[in-house]
Amino acid sequence: MKTLLGIAAAFATLLSAQQLVTDSGTAGPPIELFHLYYDQWPTGITVAKNGRKFSNYPPGLDKNNTNDGTNNKYTVAELLVNNTERAYPSAEFNNPPGGAINYSTYPATGANYNNYLIGVQSVVLDPLDRLWILDTGRALTPNGTLVASSYGGPKLVAVDLTSDSVIQTIVFPPTVAYPDSYLNDVRFDLRPSSTATGKGVAYITDSSSEGRNGIIIVDLGTGESWRHLDGIAEVRSERGFVPYVWGTPLYYIPGPGLPLSTVPLGADGIALSSDGEELFWGPVGGRYLYSVPTLRLRARDQYSELLAQAAVVNRGQRGVSDGFETDTNNFVYAGNMEQNAISFYNPANATTTLFVRDPRINWVDTMSIANDGYLYFTVNQLCFSSGFFPGTDRRVRPFALFRAKLPGNGTRVSLT
Ligand SMILES: *[C@@H]1O[C@H](CO)[C@@H](O)[C@H](O)[C@H]1NC(C)=O
Ligand SMILES: *[C@@H]1O[C@H](CO)[C@@H](O)[C@H](O)[C@H]1NC(C)=O
Ligand SMILES: *[C@@H]1O[C@H](CO)[C@@H](O)[C@H](O)[C@H]1NC(C)=O
Ligand SMILES: *[C@@H]1O[C@H](CO)[C@@H](O)[C@H](O)[C@H]1NC(C)=O
Ligand SMILES: *[C@@H]1O[C@H](CO)[C@@H](O)[C@H](O)[C@H]1NC(C)=O
Ligand SMILES: *[C@@H]1O[C@H](CO)[C@@H](O)[C@H](O)[C@H]1NC(C)=O
Repeated sequence: MKTLLGIAAAFATLLSAQQLVTDSGTAGPPIELFHLYYDQWPTGITVAKNGRKFSNYPPGLDKNNTNDGTNNKYTVAELLVNNTERAYPSAEFNNPPGGAINYSTYPATGANYNNYLIGVQSVVLDPLDRLWILDTGRALTPNGTLVASSYGGPKLVAVDLTSDSVIQTIVFPPTVAYPDSYLNDVRFDLRPSSTATGKGVAYITDSSSEGRNGIIIVDLGTGESWRHLDGIAEVRSERGFVPYVWGTPLYYIPGPGLPLSTVPLGADGIALSSDGEELFWGPVGGRYLYSVPTLRLRARDQYSELLAQAAVVNRGQRGVSDGFETDTNNFVYAGNMEQNAISFYNPANATTTLFVRDPRINWVDTMSIANDGYLYFTVNQLCFSSGFFPGTDRRVRPFALFRAKLPGNGTRVSLT
């Protein structure tokens, strides 16, 4: 007996002394912390040519971001020194009178102001350094119900950075931004050849968790907008899709008291190829990367939708991601949240490559490539929010903005 115990003990010592190969959890260039968000919960980030930085805080994904008319919440801010933020372009523009939600309708709806921000999901600087604010027009009520938008709410607003003032507002008709659309992210091509008016074009993903997904195209000259690839499988979430982040399977809570679903979020990440000729996107509720020639999206003739559908390309699996970005190498960056990582897809060899990996990475929400050759990205713990099972808020402040140096001297693309 004594001998047996002795052998067992010696064996245990031997086992614990044995070094096994272990995942280091890190890869690629170091990721540098750039800003800590101690106040409201962020999604977007965009970096101006002179380094000014802007973020947004959607009330459609965090009810604590919802402006109720008294709490001075902001949905867009400029990031300032020492991890502070200021409402942008002004506190007033972020404060719709009476709040973001109109409780005089039944059910409650998003307020209908076209001259105030309601619920912003993305901020993106175009190649002329104009700040475009993408307003979903939607917000969560205190019990976590995502209200439908009203005409006036869903819009694209351009702000001039020198005067901090609004210079253009494009309101989407309800036939383009449906009341249950969720305008998620936007990319700009200002090449005069892209439209008849020569003022450029914007492409927007509709990630609606209610499932009416598609791509919206906007002529920045006329303000006209239209949809393509509406409701096709490639813009929607995959049935039964269950991503894991930090070892936890994610099931979605569609609203208060509603049964769980799998992740219902459709086309979300969006990026243009560096020549502007191809548009990439991917649903959050799926791992595939898709693309279509932008010419097919800009076309509006009788056959344009059929031709656009026929031109969709499946680029293979990219991992689970939210926002995308493209650099001058024509690499398309996307989060790979199940690997605590960011990868890029290289159209030249049709493969994805690991870019960075770090245990601090969880939900990589939005990316922005700046003129300094760095990829800036927000890591916001969305996967730990009350929108996912078990419904308790497990996020821990602060939320983070990181940056990492791009490979191959990559830098920001400018489609002008
Ligand atoms: C709500 O937001 C404030 C900052 O605006 C923050 O201090 C507070 O912790 C937030 N509450 C929750 C539950 O997230
Ligand atoms: C930032 O914080 C540091 C340390 O608290 C302080 O010394 C510095 O004055 C602050 N800078 C500004 C511009 O507030
Ligand atoms: C609220 O809804 C009512 C009824 O549709 C409408 O008359 C009013 O303009 C709306 N107000 C806002 C701020 O959305
Ligand atoms: C949530 O709040 C909205 C707006 O006040 C209300 O119409 C709805 O009935 C509430 N839903 C639940 C499940 O409590
Ligand atoms: C594809 O191209 C990228 C960028 O040059 C490279 O890093 C990667 O190794 C390539 N992938 C394969 C499988 O060769
Ligand atoms: C990046 O730029 C440096 C300096 O111009 C140059 O020496 C180097 O070869 C470049 N690297 C690549 C991968 O292009």
